[in-house]
Amino acid sequence: MKPLDHPAIDAGTLRIRVNELARAISRDYEERDLLVLCVLKGALHFASDLLRALEVPAIVDFVRAKSYSGTAAGTVVELLVKPTESLAGRDVLVVEDILDTGGTAATLMEYLSQQGAASVRLCVLLDKPSRRAHEVHADYVGFSIEDYFAVGYGLDYNEQFRELPAIHRLDVGPIDGNR
Ligand code: IMP
Ligand code: MG
Repeated sequence: MKPLDHPAIDAGTLRIRVNELARAISRDYEERDLLVLCVLKGALHFASDLLRALEVPAIVDFVRAKSYSGTAAGTVVELLVKPTESLAGRDVLVVEDILDTGGTAATLMEYLSQQGAASVRLCVLLDKPSRRAHEVHADYVGFSIEDYFAVGYGLDYNEQFRELPAIHRLDVGPIDGNR
């Protein structure tokens, strides 16, 4: 399976939007104790570009989540990498590649609140509202997209295509609900 040649969101458009998000975040987090939590692996480029455009100081940490579908309990989200920074009293900004069903973000946000964060907000590059199955609110959204499988700029298909500088639609024909 391959990405379509023509980007769905090109590198220049990504740069402009990421800078806009960074400006909004900088305004909101002035005088706060900002901890940017990059969700691996998909948010690597997004978080990196966002951080470099911020106009406020930030501490960076990482989490990695994996979701398993098709189990008896439905979809289970496991935290493979947990933050090493103490979250108590911090203003945590979760930076994710994409909000699809919302299962990963919902689990993560709940975990972070339980760790005693002062505030937890969510920043996603891409949002697929038509796929939402869990109640999650994204505070900052780069692009709202239709239901297509996106790769590039950190997003993968079976670990491939993260290195592409733009977002491309994967050429899969109609997509199924199981991923
Ligand atoms: P959710 O838990 O269903 O919201 O989706 C969580 C994860 O599924 C995301 O963090 C991505 O890793 C992956 N995912 C969902 N949609 C896409 C896509 O269009 N392209 C690449 N990965 C995706
Ligand atoms: Mg993935």
